[in-house]
Amino acid sequence: MSDSRKPELVLVLDFGGQYKELIARAVRGLSVYSEIRPGNMSADEIKRLSPIGIILTGGPSSVYLPGSPMCDPAIFELGIPVLGICYGMHLMCHVLGGEVAAGGAGEYGRVTVTPESPASALFHETRGKPFAALMSHRDVVSRLPFGFRRTASTAVCAAACENAEKKLYAVQFHPETKHTDGGREIFQRFLYGVCGAAGDYRLDDYIDTQIRFIRQTVSENNVLLALSGGVDSSVCASLLSRAVPNQLVCLFVDHGFMRLNEGDEIERVFSKRKLRFIRVNAKERFLKRLDGAAEPETKRKLIGEEFVRVFEEESAKLGDIPFLAQGTIYPDIVESGGSYGATIKSHHNVGGLPKNLKFTGVVEPLSGLFKDEVRVLGGKLGLPAFLVNRQPFPGPGLAIRIVGGVTEEKLSVLRKADAILREELDGARNRPDQYFAVLTDTRSVGVKGDERTYSPVIAIRAVITGDFMTCDYAPIPHKTLGRVSSRITGEIPSVSRVVYDITSKPPATVEWE
Ligand code: XMP
Repeated sequence: MSDSRKPELVLVLDFGGQYKELIARAVRGLSVYSEIRPGNMSADEIKRLSPIGIILTGGPSSVYLPGSPMCDPAIFELGIPVLGICYGMHLMCHVLGGEVAAGGAGEYGRVTVTPESPASALFHETRGKPFAALMSHRDVVSRLPFGFRRTASTAVCAAACENAEKKLYAVQFHPETKHTDGGREIFQRFLYGVCGAAGDYRLDDYIDTQIRFIRQTVSENNVLLALSGGVDSSVCASLLSRAVPNQLVCLFVDHGFMRLNEGDEIERVFSKRKLRFIRVNAKERFLKRLDGAAEPETKRKLIGEEFVRVFEEESAKLGDIPFLAQGTIYPDIVESGGSYGATIKSHHNVGGLPKNLKFTGVVEPLSGLFKDEVRVLGGKLGLPAFLVNRQPFPGPGLAIRIVGGVTEEKLSVLRKADAILREELDGARNRPDQYFAVLTDTRSVGVKGDERTYSPVIAIRAVITGDFMTCDYAPIPHKTLGRVSSRITGEIPSVSRVVYDITSKPPATVEWE
């Protein structure tokens, strides 16, 4: 994209739908930049951003109830194409004079959708053939607004409608989920057929733009980054070292709760780059701080506090570094825009530094990207696959995978068990999305050689998930489980029992603590 032309933008207006990020991601996957904004953004504000299209997300409310989320009615008069999805369809129809009503039992799951003829611009690919789509609604559009026509149906409702002349389109189902056949094509038709997109969003452009922006922002000054070795902070370090080589100082606080050899691997990768890499070996002090702590939230809090203390002390030793860099990514920003969820666990990230640290400015060069985009960017920046494709690893590390009190001895057992599990599953055909070992606080009787043992039980956790918000336990073949179990009990003298966690989330969480 050239500098003189404004990049194309699609706005995703949020009405509380759980799939808003999937929508924004689907649009970006089709080379059009998208941003998620609050549903009630004014038409004037939208006009100022001059998007090429607007997408209204789904949401849990009913448009006819008082207090339900509303959009500015004037957005439908801007001449900008709009696609309403689920609640977004209800909103479009309700605001424009149609009628929305509770539709009996509703539809949930994959439902057959039959396009009407003549075919809508959105459904050309289907050639009029029925297709399966994910539905999740009770309300239905019971009367279309004036000027609209029904473009697809299910057995119980209008599955899609449009006013093509005004470029207003709506679907009752969710094209953004993989449970809808041809969902990607629907977005493609909307973006390229209706909005007239050229498709100017490229990750390579993102690198160039950010490099220019970082250079402008920090000028000749040094930048300090808290590097955890996780995907986000690693990619952030790579991008910064390319933008301002030799001005970046990476502080890696090694709390001693990393997996086998992980600290050394991180050091090996980053000490080769054009940056100053400092590894602070703080193992002793973290262990001391956790002495006597057994309750999960207490451990998480103590580790978070200790991390900040070490970071402050070490950055003070480095003298005045005006800029702080953080690996904040787009979902972090979207989520911090307002969440009503209960706190299940206090997540600790190295990005969670206190606001009173004295820096002139903060640079967050990944704040426009989704996680999978960050991974692609990491590959383009030459980071090794083991870092780029790293599974999520909690900030407090193995300390929250040891149930109860943490000691070096327990850490050593868990590191070995975890390494064995990873060796066995890393190359597996249907590799789970996340897998790790947990050292439980249960001891059980066993027999090794002719000796009776009474030793801790290792639990294996492996899950299948897309977003880590919910998950199913992974159906690992029994043969693999058997091999993992016999290796763990055979190679670790103090372990004589291994169990497999077969719980989904909810009700369990991914981590045990
Ligand atoms: P839960 O256990 O909440 O985990 O179901 C969901 C995902 O988040 C990861 N996780 C963390 N990540 N800091 C992080 O950066 C944390 O404190 C933390 N705790 C859990 C977990 O591994 C899973 O992928």
